[in-house]
Amino acid sequence: MTRTQVVIVGAGPSGLLLSQLLDREGIATIVLERQAQRYVEARIRAGLLEQGTVDLLIEAGVGERLQRECLVHDGFEMAFEGRVHRIDLKGLAGKQVTIYGQTEIQKDLGDARLAAGSDLRYEASNVAIHDFGGARPRVTFIHQGRPQELECDFVAGCDGYHGVCRASVPADAVRTYERVYPFGWLGIIANVRPVAHELVYANHERGFALCSMRSPTRSRYYVQVGLEEKVEDWSDERFWEELKRRIPEDVAARLVTGPSLEKSIAPLRSFVVEPMQYGRLFLVGDAAHIVPPTGAKGLNLAASDVSTLYRILLRVYREGRTDLLARYSPICLRRVWKAERFSWWMTGLLHRFPDTDAFGRRIQQSEQDYFTSTPAGLTTIAENYVGLPYEPIE
Ligand code: FAD
Ligand code: DHB
Repeated sequence: MTRTQVVIVGAGPSGLLLSQLLDREGIATIVLERQAQRYVEARIRAGLLEQGTVDLLIEAGVGERLQRECLVHDGFEMAFEGRVHRIDLKGLAGKQVTIYGQTEIQKDLGDARLAAGSDLRYEASNVAIHDFGGARPRVTFIHQGRPQELECDFVAGCDGYHGVCRASVPADAVRTYERVYPFGWLGIIANVRPVAHELVYANHERGFALCSMRSPTRSRYYVQVGLEEKVEDWSDERFWEELKRRIPEDVAARLVTGPSLEKSIAPLRSFVVEPMQYGRLFLVGDAAHIVPPTGAKGLNLAASDVSTLYRILLRVYREGRTDLLARYSPICLRRVWKAERFSWWMTGLLHRFPDTDAFGRRIQQSEQDYFTSTPAGLTTIAENYVGLPYEPIE
């Protein structure tokens, strides 16, 4: 049996970032990932980073390419009822947001882990966690055809929404909170010049649309679709036509179309598990919570969980502060719930709900009007969008 200090299940952004941070401080980790490296690095997902996430990536030593290639935005636009409203993030909240693809972060972290000679095992199957309620957790798995076992001090469940870690906690020890939305996002990525310098979110009578980007030559676009929609029914041409109809006319006139590199539909969901800790198991990122993508909070919440767990473990190993372990879940959940609230609220503000009546629609319109026409409303949006502060660990 091999011993290590922290076993990390999942090599998504949460798992790799935690491993990278701990390793730099001399805390030994082994990362177990179900998928192949190629698969993990090809997934196209998030693109918008809060300053706290950027700072953490820099602290982890993986900020160099990010700082060279990223796009920094001072604001974003919201279009509804035929009008466009700019949210001046810098002016209202004193912060900017950064565009840099999750795919690139995944590559940067993967390269850094490889360069450090870390123990990172892709294509590990049948991962199972044991005895994490006590002092000596064990993790079993199959790697390269051989059954293996690890003993550790702590297990970090960084294995996403469908992972094994959350599912291993006794059902009566946790409570889950969930909301499923009656639509999804159809997203494409294409090597075309972005339609605008900043992001444009639109609430149109045909449904939500978002114009985003990955670089000055690569665009990311989304449209709200019904849950019954199939990606095979959406040719590139049909997608571009639908997008054009939903965004403001002058923006549509500038739209450059081209063949999609990827096209997929993601359902929208809000989900939280409480607590995010059971014994020596800590749930991190999407393993503990899911947000609908509207507020761009998923990856950013994963980063703030990682920051909290990293700082706690550092003090546990350096100062023997085991009392801090119990602080992980309450610290994370305070920030998680605020991001859950904002993501839920932005989703409500910007989408067309199939089951809404005339009253509900008027309430949505008056929310749009109030929040974009008062300093308090605009500041509330800006403050949440740029990311709420991380709580210090005392
Ligand atoms: P994941 O990325 O899900 O990683 C979990 C890893 O664990 C995976 O590699 C998985 O293969 C592995 N795993 C699972 N089960 C096992 C097992 N049993 N054994 C071993 N390994 C296992 N967030 C933002 O902040 N901004 C955005 O703009 C944004 N846009 C998004 C757009 C889309 C279309 C989608 C789908 C998501 C978006 N998100 C966004 C959310 C963001 O991508 C996620 O929150 C983020 O990937 C969470 O990282 P994670 O490492 O916690 O989980
Ligand atoms: C992106 C996704 C989001 O959900 C969002 O709010 C902003 C940007 C993106 O993929 O670029």
